[in-house]
Amino acid sequence: MKYDVTIIGSGPGGYVAAIRCAQLGMKTAIIEKYDTLGGTCLNVGCIPSKALLDSTEHFHNAATTFKEHGIEINKPKSNLGQMIKRKDGVVKATCDGIDYLMNKNKIDVFHGVGSFKDKNTITVSGKKPQEIETDKVIIATGSKPSSLPFIKIDKKRIITSTEALNLMEIPEHMIIIGGGVIGMELGSVYARLGSKITVVEFLDSIIPTMDKTMGKELQKSTKKLGFEFYLSHKVYEVTAKGKQVSVKAESTKGDKVEIKGDYCLVSIGRRPFTDGLALENVGITSDKAGRIEVNEHLQTNVSNIYAIGDVVKGAMLAHKAEEEGTLVAESIAGQKPHINYLLIPGVVYTWPEVASVGYTEEQLKEQGREYKTGSFPYKALGRARASMDLDGLVKVLADKQTDEILGMHIIGARAADMIAAGVTAMEYRASAEDVARMSHAHPTYMEAVKEACLAATENRPIHI
Ligand code: FAD
Ligand code: NAI
Repeated sequence: MKYDVTIIGSGPGGYVAAIRCAQLGMKTAIIEKYDTLGGTCLNVGCIPSKALLDSTEHFHNAATTFKEHGIEINKPKSNLGQMIKRKDGVVKATCDGIDYLMNKNKIDVFHGVGSFKDKNTITVSGKKPQEIETDKVIIATGSKPSSLPFIKIDKKRIITSTEALNLMEIPEHMIIIGGGVIGMELGSVYARLGSKITVVEFLDSIIPTMDKTMGKELQKSTKKLGFEFYLSHKVYEVTAKGKQVSVKAESTKGDKVEIKGDYCLVSIGRRPFTDGLALENVGITSDKAGRIEVNEHLQTNVSNIYAIGDVVKGAMLAHKAEEEGTLVAESIAGQKPHINYLLIPGVVYTWPEVASVGYTEEQLKEQGREYKTGSFPYKALGRARASMDLDGLVKVLADKQTDEILGMHIIGARAADMIAAGVTAMEYRASAEDVARMSHAHPTYMEAVKEACLAATENRPIHI
């Protein structure tokens, strides 16, 4: 069979690339080594984690805020088995949706490991190995969890996010190595169910790639949930014996600590995944971190082969992979698409949620750029008082001379949805005053964005 384009990997990068290629009239094939389509995101990432975050948030609210809202119930009991079952149902329905989309767009799906025989021939492993002839190839093979050389992930007590999404029991004490996005999201899931959570983070703040204010505020909120933190601590030994795990770490000051628990979640980042592709057969180059090297058109050093998503440089996010899938399809079709990487938002689905777009204050300082800051706390919002979601704030950074918004950072209820307003404003290069003068419905959480812009533009918020 001969195709115009063959895509290896069916995560958000691969399946979106396939759909866009098909929409543009290309004969398209997609290869996935697992039985279900959707990649990390749909199977063991974005979707299952959000399903468990939603279930546990309901449970937490039932146990904590219902009474104050005037809802009298007996002490709620969690049923982890049912939560996992519901999560599996959500995953299945979402993955089935991708099958439907492949069918609808007449994309041929091959299951098996895709490997390069040469630059125009891909072999697909399986009971009956197949060979695909293709004009162009898009590599979208994603990433896998990283670990440290001295840690043996046994998948039982010393686990990654994949196992943490499928536990059979609520841990008594989960030790989390890495206070990044996975650590804080999955830590929240189990903290809400009653687990003690200890986070050991190498740097001096959690979610360290985001604006420092966000890390500080999230740390305060999650401490209320019972999280315990060891920041600026380097882990040097992790062992499991029977049902117990032990994590040893040393602070930057040289103090040593041993933490004992029953599960250890290793969430120190992810690594690009290229195993099985036989890149050596086509001479594609990778950088030191194992990421496939690409130019600004996401083209590898072999001109008919492109790479997108987690397997190339940049944020490891589903929507970044999707944008890149679209960009490559449109480039192949002769169009001139563009991605503004600065405006790819980042979200942490804890409660309060954290969401961010543009530059952080630390980055602006590093660039030596003159900027103004405006903040507004959730606790001054009528909407937040009504819903009892008082934790959080909106922080807007704007250019000191032109007032152009350079960054928006939100921690609080519904931040994940609100950040789209920041993306839109920045895409159209709005000034803080532009946003401050727009009518924002009352009472909404979005009023905090308007007020933070008022604070940034002329330091004249109305409600504080
Ligand atoms: P992947 O989704 O990793 O897909 C790659 C696919 O390629 C896989 O299905 C793999 O089996 C297949 N493959 C690999 N090699 C071969 C081969 N040789 N032949 C055939 N198939 C192959 N991002 C967000 O934006 N929002 C979130 O809320 C979010 N939550 C997350 C939660 C967790 C717990 C994790 C782990 C990740 C989360 N992410 C989230 C990150 C997101 O999942 C990834 O950024 C995204 O899946 C990357 O998409 P991709 O298409 O590049 O690769
Ligand atoms: P991460 O990069 O977000 O966080 C890893 C954390 O581990 C960092 O804070 C880092 O400083 C710390 N760390 C690294 N080495 C360490 C060590 N030796 N000891 C202690 N701490 C150490 O990576 P994470 O959380 O594993 O997630 C992987 C990827 O998945 C991220 O890039 C993220 O973009 C994506 N993801 C996105 C989500 C979202 O968009 N909501 C949710 C979950 C994952």
